[in-house]
Amino acid sequence: MNTSRFIVLEGIDGSGTTTQSSLLHDRLQKEGFTSMLTCEPTRSPIGDLIRSILRTKVPAHPETLAYLFAADRHDHLYNPETGMIKALSQGHWVVLDRYMFSSLAYQTVQCSRDLVYTLNNNFPLPEITFFLDLNPEISLQRISTRDSEREIYEHIDFQLKVRSRYQQVFSEYSSRTEIVAVDASMDQDAVHQKIWGIISQRISMASP
Ligand code: TYD
Repeated sequence: MNTSRFIVLEGIDGSGTTTQSSLLHDRLQKEGFTSMLTCEPTRSPIGDLIRSILRTKVPAHPETLAYLFAADRHDHLYNPETGMIKALSQGHWVVLDRYMFSSLAYQTVQCSRDLVYTLNNNFPLPEITFFLDLNPEISLQRISTRDSEREIYEHIDFQLKVRSRYQQVFSEYSSRTEIVAVDASMDQDAVHQKIWGIISQRISMASP
């Protein structure tokens, strides 16, 4: 399985993963590469169900949610028509807004570590993950100006726990996959330049 063009962006709510994924995808395309821009939870029926639970429209046990995130991820990878593995095997870049590290950081707040790690143990690791690190007080302030529906995790106590879990998860994974922490308090363009600087360097090293 060739995962050398598989890029993930992670961070607490409001850290800018969606904006930065989109900027990176646009930049890759501008440079002439084929890129798939995608996110988790996905836009599939499983992802829609997850979003309904996050917006408290549908009740669910936290462990059910952990299973659903893992099922959504499995389909996202292996769906024979729309899956990321297919795109990677065709030589496309895949820019993914949240992946298994989100489950390891968020679901372990309310579920056992064993369950969440077991559910996410067999997913392929990305080539590189950018951790957009930000103080939750700033990120929640950013979210409060958005015009979107509130979700269950968007409060300070939860986000503080998620941030420290991310730091723990990335220290565990840093020997197995590349993790780059980026100061997400910088402005949008500065964060993008930092990410693009690293990706463009890899591209030039890989080309003959
Ligand atoms: P988010 O990226 O904010 O999606 P949207 O813009 O569609 O609301 O993700 C929704 C929430 O889901 C966010 O709080 C992070 C959380 N999440 C998990 O708890 N576990 C996961 O595995 C993933 C992918 C996301």
